[in-house]
Amino acid sequence: MNASTARSPRCYAIVPAAGVGERSGAGQPKQYVTVAGQPMLAHALAALAAVPRIVQTLVVLSPADERFEAALPGYAGWLARVGGASRAESVLGGLAELRRRGALDDDWVLVHDAARCLLQPEWVEALIDACDHDAVGGLLAQPVADTLKVGDAAGRVTATVDRRDKWVAQTPQMFRLALVERALTAMGAAATDEASAVERLGLSPRLVKASVANLKVTWPEDFALAERLLLTRG
Ligand code: CTP
Ligand code: MG
Repeated sequence: MNASTARSPRCYAIVPAAGVGERSGAGQPKQYVTVAGQPMLAHALAALAAVPRIVQTLVVLSPADERFEAALPGYAGWLARVGGASRAESVLGGLAELRRRGALDDDWVLVHDAARCLLQPEWVEALIDACDHDAVGGLLAQPVADTLKVGDAAGRVTATVDRRDKWVAQTPQMFRLALVERALTAMGAAATDEASAVERLGLSPRLVKASVANLKVTWPEDFALAERLLLTRG
């Protein structure tokens, strides 16, 4: 038995935080915007740090990032300035870094967006419980509640889409290191999440029902909403 089969798989997390946050209109990378007293990135990292089964979390920054140390003083976790031009490239940079630090093919990697600052440890626990023995892996997701419309460039409805089998994908998304690396390498920058890349390989990730409160801060008005939710959840 070699070293890779002698031990049970470990759980790592990667937080891609190398984006510029253009849609947020914040004038700075949105992961550093203060929400409820802390940068968004700090909230996301605190939730992951509260999950005992995650052995290490790696933050992926842009090589040009000059803000992290001042924004999160005292951060003692893993950090690498290996971000790329797309989210997928940033995650691939993080996966390579995890390998350099000892992660193996069959270890699990949970990828979580820094922009989802409302993450709760129990949602991560539920994801790990659901995927731990799954052949593919999976993601947090929310069944669509609203009626879905297709719109054209003029802002007029062209169709209504059956919502009954539709889900909104969230993060974390949890896959084995070797699988997600192969999937993202094959799909490249077009992959806006890990699951879509894994689907391209013909596999079906598990949908793990999540909370609508796990919102992704994307637009200017989302900061205030995230702050209200953080301050009132007790
Ligand atoms: N991300 C990254 N590297 C990139 C692009 C995005 O690590 N080249 C990260 C972001 O920092 C964020 C997550 O991927 O934590 C999800 O991306 P998104 O919400 O789209 O953030 P941004 O790309 O920063 O925002 P925008 O698309 O509005 O510019
Ligand atoms: Mg983006």
